[in-house]
Amino acid sequence: MHLNKPVFTTVSLFLGMLFLFISCGNKQTDFSLDIPQGWPKPEIPKDKQLTESRILLGRKLFYDPILSRNGDISCASCHKPEFAFADSVAVSTGTHAALGNRNTPSLFNVAWYPHFFAEGGVPNLELVAVGPIQTDVEMGFNLAEACNRLARDEEYVRLFKEAYDTVPSTYTLVRALGAFQRTLISGNAPYDRFLRGDSSALNASARKGFSMFFSDKMGCGKCHSDFLLTDFSFHNLGFNSEIDPGRYRLTSNPSDKGKFRTPSLRNITLTAPYMHNGSLSDLESVIDFYAKGGGDDVNKSALLHVISITSEEKRDLISFLESLTDSSALKNPNYLPLK
Ligand code: HEC
Ligand code: HEC
Repeated sequence: MHLNKPVFTTVSLFLGMLFLFISCGNKQTDFSLDIPQGWPKPEIPKDKQLTESRILLGRKLFYDPILSRNGDISCASCHKPEFAFADSVAVSTGTHAALGNRNTPSLFNVAWYPHFFAEGGVPNLELVAVGPIQTDVEMGFNLAEACNRLARDEEYVRLFKEAYDTVPSTYTLVRALGAFQRTLISGNAPYDRFLRGDSSALNASARKGFSMFFSDKMGCGKCHSDFLLTDFSFHNLGFNSEIDPGRYRLTSNPSDKGKFRTPSLRNITLTAPYMHNGSLSDLESVIDFYAKGGGDDVNKSALLHVISITSEEKRDLISFLESLTDSSALKNPNYLPLK
């Protein structure tokens, strides 16, 4: 059967208006992440889709001490943008979910993380925000009170309305913080430019360090693998597991004692001191630590062994680690506090 022309025109006019109506009803502008060449797309669950207004709200919240009881601490007090959203002290005053004294990690590229915290105990980004807001030693507040406070602030009421069409709520607060954090992407270090074919991006020393890093002799790439230089798995490097049992705290499985998640090494020059407890002050100490085969916990990974390394090789390895610093991400104005 063929539609005669006037009926066809009416139908298409109707469909056109319907489409216009639907698109006007949805004020949200979808935001697509600027994904570095060669990286997979991060998975973003349906209920956490990114829009400009959600990211803007999350950005404001991230830098706002309004989320702490005394109005003096924000997420950025520990996750400092100038240190790749990490901190420059061994342990910040307090840690998420009172898990013990931990070093503050970088937040770059969290959109790709399959789990969070040094023992991998938090399965998604939104749940992470519940910890610091409620933990006594951190922001010492609770989410319901934080939302009540936001609901008394006219600008936040407007921003939540724009972003989620609701009043401030726990559900939307943690999603907005997650939205902003998913935009924090760093994938344009000299190392990346080198991988994309710009051979001048790494100097000779960094190039030597590159091959050493992924060599069997050094073995770094066995755990620090893939585009974020982590296998997202858990290993025991020999730190005293009586002090912090790491993943064992989560699983109670004796073989998990002293295991911690392999951290990404992106922007590693900016995030000293190192390790879950901030016990190693600089990259030289980290390499010395690995060269002597790690620490001496009974449960230590079989992948660690004594490595003899000359001071020149050490310099090369450090040059390679330096090539993982992405200065363009640090300067990205969209990551910084709103003016
Ligand atoms: C007092 C310092 C402090 C404050 C304030 C703080 N954090 Fe953290 N953050 C940490 C520490 C320390 C860890 C590591 C916890 C661990 O591994 O046990 C962490 C871990 C994280 C992680 C997981 C990263 C990873 O590598 O798994 C995310 C995401 C995060 N914080 C986001 C936030 C957000 C959002 C806020 C504000 C609502 C915030 N943090 C406030 C210190 C802080
Ligand atoms: C057996 C797996 C494994 C091997 C091999 C390995 N690492 Fe690690 N690396 C880890 C884990 C796990 C951590 C985190 C330990 C902790 O938090 O206590 C870590 C931490 C680090 C850190 C500190 C990161 C931070 O944010 O604090 C640096 C730097 C580092 N490794 C570099 C190297 C280099 C260089 C080599 C090769 C000499 C190497 N790693 C070999 C698993 C490994």
